Amino acid sequence: MQSQTTTGTAAARRVHFHDLHPAPADMRAEVLAGLALPQKRLSPKFFYDADGSRLFDAICALPEYYPTRTEIGILRRHGAEMAARLGREALLIELGSGSSVKIRTLLEALRPAVYMPVDISREHLLQSAEALAAAFPALDVHAVCADYSSAFVLPVDHHDHPRAAFFPGSSVGNFEPPAAARLMARVGQILGPGGRLLIGVDLIKDVHRLEAAYNDADGVTAAFNLNLLTRINRELGADFDRDAFRHEAIFNAALARVEMHLISTRAQRVTVAGETFAFAEGESIHTECSYKYRIDGFHALAAEAGFAAEQVWTDADDLFSVHCLVYG
Ligand code: AVJ
Repeated sequence: MQSQTTTGTAAARRVHFHDLHPAPADMRAEVLAGLALPQKRLSPKFFYDADGSRLFDAICALPEYYPTRTEIGILRRHGAEMAARLGREALLIELGSGSSVKIRTLLEALRPAVYMPVDISREHLLQSAEALAAAFPALDVHAVCADYSSAFVLPVDHHDHPRAAFFPGSSVGNFEPPAAARLMARVGQILGPGGRLLIGVDLIKDVHRLEAAYNDADGVTAAFNLNLLTRINRELGADFDRDAFRHEAIFNAALARVEMHLISTRAQRVTVAGETFAFAEGESIHTECSYKYRIDGFHALAAEAGFAAEQVWTDADDLFSVHCLVYG
């Protein structure tokens, strides 16, 4: 499915909106397949309905969730240098743009010709893109609603501009390393030889700090995780009892990843889109992996995807890293 619409009034800067939204049927098939696995799984990309996107923004403001503020600090501090590496007048593609907060720290120095935010959360993307276009009237904004975890083509080709990509938030950590390498290789193909990717990557650190970031005291992350069940109930006609599941997040040190699960608190049956799934007491649905890296480990992954490491910036406590990679 592909369509283009243009939003805004004549007075306000217009946003070009490209809808490559995955069909609801795709979500149904993926959810049913995931729940049929011996270790039940749901993809973290399904977290981001309108409520999920709002809850994610609330997570980013939590005292325990260090990645967002740490990454923004790195971007603020080194933005001029990053912009110099990426170059001006570029077609700048952002993967998982969410509220487009982080890109604002770079736009002044970066001055892209075209900003292309790509996100799976349709309404959130539209609102954020419009707010951004209003704040930066000289910027040409092409918002793309798409699932970047599967192949997608750029809806417009601005071949007269050099290309650069921004992939913040350590969202690359949501992919198993081989899938992360495949995704980055696809980004490389879109950028072409010499194209640069600015990517945020969370670092391996003390287990208590990691687990606290995904088990906040206010239960916002728990609500974010459980919202997946509410969404599936609403969109796929399921009968999950939210109160019969609890949130759990643990650091799996052997695999260097934080895992989020929804644990069934009793034996139960759940019907989803006409199919029934049995849960034992204590059985989990694995809803998210968040891989953490060391700098050299991430550079090895980037090399697999065809990228060379050009520069890396970290915070004073080595909590988080931002890498400039060059393709080809
Ligand atoms: C921004 C998608 C990478 O894995 O840390 C936050 C999502 N999940 N709290 C992450 C998330 C639970 C986040 N990503």
